[in-house]
Amino acid sequence: MRIGMLTGGGDCPGLNAVIRAVVRKGVMHYGDEFVGFVEGWRGVIDDRTMALDLQTTSGILHRGGTILRSSRTNVKKIEGGFESCLKAITGHKLDALIAMGGDDTQSISVELVKRGVQCIGVPKTIDNDLSGTDVCFGFDTAVTIATEAVDRLHSTTEAHSRVQVVEVMGRDAGWIAVTAGIAGGADVILAPEKPIDMDEVVRLLRARWESGKRFALVVVAEGAKLPQTGQVALGAKVDSFGHARLSGIGQALAEEIERRTGYETRSVNLGHTQRGGTPTAYDRMLATRYGTAAIDLVHQGKTGRLVVLQGNRITDIPLEDAIAKTRTVGEDLFAVIKGLQPKA
Ligand code: F6P
Repeated sequence: MRIGMLTGGGDCPGLNAVIRAVVRKGVMHYGDEFVGFVEGWRGVIDDRTMALDLQTTSGILHRGGTILRSSRTNVKKIEGGFESCLKAITGHKLDALIAMGGDDTQSISVELVKRGVQCIGVPKTIDNDLSGTDVCFGFDTAVTIATEAVDRLHSTTEAHSRVQVVEVMGRDAGWIAVTAGIAGGADVILAPEKPIDMDEVVRLLRARWESGKRFALVVVAEGAKLPQTGQVALGAKVDSFGHARLSGIGQALAEEIERRTGYETRSVNLGHTQRGGTPTAYDRMLATRYGTAAIDLVHQGKTGRLVVLQGNRITDIPLEDAIAKTRTVGEDLFAVIKGLQPKA
């Protein structure tokens, strides 16, 4: 078969591991040929491609980023966008298309399936908020980076008797904040799922000081909301899917904490460092399992399906189910956080 591949949306550690797994199994077990579209859906619209074979996908398993590069191109917003995609797909005589991406990327695949393209999706987002799968690759790497940052910040925060706010990624769901916060032993953990209660934040920090520990770590997801400001973004600019550039909740929170408590407070935004660099062994393994499952689905003649991890089993679900709603952090994990904090 001839199969197209692309990576869309924010990059994610493990994308190269998926690409490598798809190509290796495809070439060596099915005799497939591949066409790589560069820069996500932009490359399909403009028909810009690169060769994907055993040679070009060798030595990339441990590399972050994506050899296909990525973009946040919304085909729905581009006049004649779907027609251009179909022209490129038929021009290359493709039998199927594998798109690695989050809900935005997969929403385009859903449209192409309606237009007769065999599309298979691979779930990708460090935010870990795609429905239907227990884990997206890249999440483990992001959490590992964020946890190491929290660990490192402990000593300098203690040395200066400060509050240190750490802003992590997580637009609509606080998976990174909650996981890295718990793993890093943060005193306060704030996620988009629950509006920030400043009185409670102050109570927890005061309790910490009164316990004799005169320093504290606060982990906040970029998408968390302060009652007075809501989400904090950099300017009014939105991307083609309508998402604002979230950033700054950490600083806003730090200022509010210092104002209310008088404790010297600093903030650091981990930003894109969480998405950069080499994927963890867990993410390489998960990405590889997703990749081999995706190429199998293509050959089983399935379309409009997303490979997912449920428990420890790789299976597949309709793409529509994955994009229908955001998978947010459950009450069980918020209860873990509460259980580790002083009672009100
Ligand atoms: O991929 C999701 C995400 O990591 C969000 O947490 C974050 O808001 C966004 O990407 C930032 O992406 P960029 O600045 O690269 O467009």
